[in-house]
Amino acid sequence: MTETLAPVRPGKLIIDGQAVDAASGRTFTTANPATEEPVTQVAEAGVEDVDRAVRAARAAFDDGPWPKMRPAERQRILTKLGDLVLAHADELGRLETLDNGKPIFESRQIDVPMVAGCFHYFAGWATKMTGETIPVAPQWFTYTLREPLGVVGAIIPWNFPMIMVGWKCAPAIAAGNTVVLKPALETPLTAIRIGELALEAGLPPGVLNVLPGRGSVAGEALVKHPLVDKISFTGSTEVGQHIMRVAADTVKKLTLELGGKSPNIVFADADLDAAVRGAATGIFYGKGEVCAAGSRLLVEQSVHDAFVARLADRAKKMTPADPMDPKTRLGALVNEAQMKKVLGYVATGVGEGARLVAGGQRQPVNGRGWFVQATVLDQVENTMRIAQEEIFGPVLAVIPFADADDAVKKGNDIFYGLAAGVWTRDVGKAHRVARQLRAGTVWVNMYNFYDPAMPFGGTKGSGFGRDLGAESLRDYTQTKSVWMNIE
Ligand code: TAP
Repeated sequence: MTETLAPVRPGKLIIDGQAVDAASGRTFTTANPATEEPVTQVAEAGVEDVDRAVRAARAAFDDGPWPKMRPAERQRILTKLGDLVLAHADELGRLETLDNGKPIFESRQIDVPMVAGCFHYFAGWATKMTGETIPVAPQWFTYTLREPLGVVGAIIPWNFPMIMVGWKCAPAIAAGNTVVLKPALETPLTAIRIGELALEAGLPPGVLNVLPGRGSVAGEALVKHPLVDKISFTGSTEVGQHIMRVAADTVKKLTLELGGKSPNIVFADADLDAAVRGAATGIFYGKGEVCAAGSRLLVEQSVHDAFVARLADRAKKMTPADPMDPKTRLGALVNEAQMKKVLGYVATGVGEGARLVAGGQRQPVNGRGWFVQATVLDQVENTMRIAQEEIFGPVLAVIPFADADDAVKKGNDIFYGLAAGVWTRDVGKAHRVARQLRAGTVWVNMYNFYDPAMPFGGTKGSGFGRDLGAESLRDYTQTKSVWMNIE
């Protein structure tokens, strides 16, 4: 049964612990992708608001209690924030689905626990970040300190608006930094709500500021601001490249998690039942608006025809439906432009000679919404645009391969390097192929799994630096070497 919807209150900026309007008084409307109707009005941050938020974050870092607070106290506050996220699971799940169009099943059962998990996991790290004593000479005491960077600007996309708050803010704040967070214009609601919950948990004012606004205005101002020490960005490769150029002027540190076009490789000796399920969830989870989506399915020639027939059957049964219904597994794309882009790629693929074996159409639910069918294109050449460019929708390109060498060659023959999947019962082959694939993550006999403890990020055109895991803390801290003469 579909949820009853209470009205969503207007969203404000969060600066220095206060919910405020934009200095300009500007607002924008956020819309429900499933109904095309407005959800609520949200304050739109401009350059002046960015400056205020950055100065608040700077003051909170330079003069405020957060970096100087006992790590055990930082741990307690972040643990409480994780608890509050869980306590508001229904509300946050509902907001996310209204804003993004993803099934409520995913928002509530996957995204909320992941966000809470990030705050809980990184809360534990607050008390465990240590330096080293390094023996250099007997008359000197030489050691390192692990110190926070200062003010972190976090810029996040619309596909995982709530999860990205956890991925970026939890490690940055646990390490003692302060943050200015800019959610995507399309999906600001859960970031604002988590910003409010952070204050309720006891995070001091200015430690987490939330600025919904346009990337070209608020995002750009954050990247240019001289008082920001680091930008942690997740989004498109194109915007990531632009941020790199702009950030060079102030020599900011960067973590860039960019696009992907990940190969999901099915060998003939795999458990094919599991591989069919894994190929489907690899691309249709999150409506395919997932950076790590297994959007290139490489299938060994000897099982190709039977495998694709089964996959096409499965795709045809995955009909788009009301995202607020807990049974729904395929929701609405984030907006009309994204839907048109995705359908345009389907037409391009067919024009390039690929064979459409499932889906391929817009399919409104109750006569409206930006829904696209689960789509499978077969007989794709790895050189085609639909094999090389990120579509960011529920569209799978199936590419046959001859043997392991051919699979690795095709898998790596791409600008991106975010993730990959391998399906086989041969353990040796699984390890060999996992080593040969140029990707930040390789899943074997599974796909699209994430955990706060496991690092995630890309290589090649998919960026650099890592979110999650102990590894991410390295990207939010710096080492200071201290030399002391004790003669
Ligand atoms: P983008 O257009 O790149 O937007 C990402 C964020 O950057 C948004 O908050 C956006 O603001 C902002 N932005 C835009 N122009 C900017 C500028 N000039 N300066 C600073 N910030 C700017 O990506 P998207 O369309 O939201 O998300 C889809 C893309 O993200 C896909 O390519 C996907 O692969 C990638 N993605 C990657 C990952 C990982 S982990 N690698 C995870 C999720 C998504 P607006 O809201 O105003 O656009």
